[in-house]
Amino acid sequence: MLGFNSKEKAADGTVPEGADDLKPPQHVAIIMDGNGRWATKRGLPRIAGHKRGLNSVRKVTREAKALGIRYLTLFAFSTENWLRPREEVHGLMDLFRFYMRRECKVLVSEGVRIKFIGDPSEMPEDIQKLMVEAEELTAKGEVMTLVVALNYGARAEIVRAAARISERVAAGELTGNDITEETISAELTTSGIPDPDLILRTSGEQRLSNFLLWQAAYTEFLFVDKHWPDFDQTSLRQAVIAYNTRDRRFGAVRKTA
Ligand code: IPE
Ligand code: IPE
Ligand code: MG
Repeated sequence: MLGFNSKEKAADGTVPEGADDLKPPQHVAIIMDGNGRWATKRGLPRIAGHKRGLNSVRKVTREAKALGIRYLTLFAFSTENWLRPREEVHGLMDLFRFYMRRECKVLVSEGVRIKFIGDPSEMPEDIQKLMVEAEELTAKGEVMTLVVALNYGARAEIVRAAARISERVAAGELTGNDITEETISAELTTSGIPDPDLILRTSGEQRLSNFLLWQAAYTEFLFVDKHWPDFDQTSLRQAVIAYNTRDRRFGAVRKTA
């Protein structure tokens, strides 16, 4: 239970119907979008939007933990984001460095484990090192797992999984008949992480942009009109409330009481 009641009470003190039953999604994944537009609207360089976006990362991580969310995935850099101007890519890499150097201790003190998904091999070497260090340093965190998608592309991830499985078949470890959905899931960089219950995207865009294509088979989607730097604790709580109104059937018929 989220313990929403005290905060979600209407002005007359009554608890909205159903508020007692609010359950946090186990896994929320966020496409943090709109940093550039947030900055441009204010006459600032795009990187200023990314910097402000980092405040939202901190706020949302803390709130997700408070809400009882066990896995929070943040899409930080896609395999297609290398196409951006050099200066912006460099600025983003500097922010990743800054975040990992500064934030690890805080995550440890809060019991948050960090895990990266995507292909680290294309990241600058010093960042690869920081990623390994951050995973090692926070490995004991049991309250929440913060999954950071860095150089992540769902299609590339599926291609790599297919290549690895075909190697195993060639080595005689597996036959074609042994390949199941679990075989494929186990070869993805998200192996061991439950599929997201909710994917939310800020900035009003309504697309996945190559995010978690396999894992999102039965995920609920929520598109929020705010740009990422304006997304805060309240926005996340509202998203969880919206999630609680969804009727997830997974192809079956809803059980009646
Ligand atoms: C999302 O904000 C952050 C990253 C992709 C790293 P954008 O930079 O995509 O912001 P917009 O969509 O251009 O406004
Ligand atoms: C998706 O946002 C990637 C991240 C949030 C890291 P983009 O801004 O790159 O996606 P498109 O280009 O609008 O589809
Ligand atoms: Mg964008």
